[in-house]
Amino acid sequence: MVTLALSKGRIYDEAAPLLAGMGLAITEDPDATRKLIVATANPGVRVIIVRASDVPTYVQHGAADLGIAGSDVLAEHGGQGLYQPVDLRIARCRMVVAVPEGFDYESAVRQGARLRVATKYIATAREHFAAKGVHVDLIHLYGSMELAPLVGLADAIVDLVDTGNTLRANNLKVVEEIEPISSRLVVNPASLKLKRSALAPLIDAFGRAARG
Ligand code: ATP
Ligand code: PRP
Repeated sequence: MVTLALSKGRIYDEAAPLLAGMGLAITEDPDATRKLIVATANPGVRVIIVRASDVPTYVQHGAADLGIAGSDVLAEHGGQGLYQPVDLRIARCRMVVAVPEGFDYESAVRQGARLRVATKYIATAREHFAAKGVHVDLIHLYGSMELAPLVGLADAIVDLVDTGNTLRANNLKVVEEIEPISSRLVVNPASLKLKRSALAPLIDAFGRAARG
């Protein structure tokens, strides 16, 4: 049996059609069931439903043989013990620095002000500002980062942007692009050795599906 770790929401919505095209249609809608293990059209492949940020952990420990995780989540996890063979090019967005419309970010940075930055992406933010030589106090949040500058918790945020609607609705603007984000297929290297005959064709099929 091959186990694939997936998160509900965006990644599931964009991965499900890819999986169906590979003969791995998921037989039960995870939103309509409380089950956390669901079957696919291939009796040798099952899907486990986990939090987006937990996918790398399940795969790293071999509880899942493979999984689909955002590059944002993989950067925070560190990617240790994970083989990342395919950029699936789904759940695409950008990691950015954003500030309130009226905030003069360039001057604050130039003057060497110590910025308070709220984010869920501590490792990414730390690396970004360290590379620029900007001193920051990082404030760890788990969601709704856009609120932090509006209520005086932070000067800036590091967060994901797609349409820009959330930033606009909260009078925030992008001041720096950090990196483009997309979801990757991640594989447990020991599983790949032990189950190569099952996993190698699946990895190839993901590669073809991603190329489209
Ligand atoms: P968790 O449940 O672990 O807190 P989450 O709430 O961030 O995670 P989702 O919102 O489903 O989970 O996001 C899953 C992935 O989708 C993210 O890791 C990122 O790679 C991508 N993503 C997040 N927001 C967007 C967006 N607005 N547009 C496109 N892709 C996005
Ligand atoms: C993500 C991200 C932004 C928003 C950006 O949040 O954290 O808030 O999407 O998308 P936009 O530019 O298209 O508005 P999400 O919807 O996943 O909410 P959550 O982090 O609270 O789950």
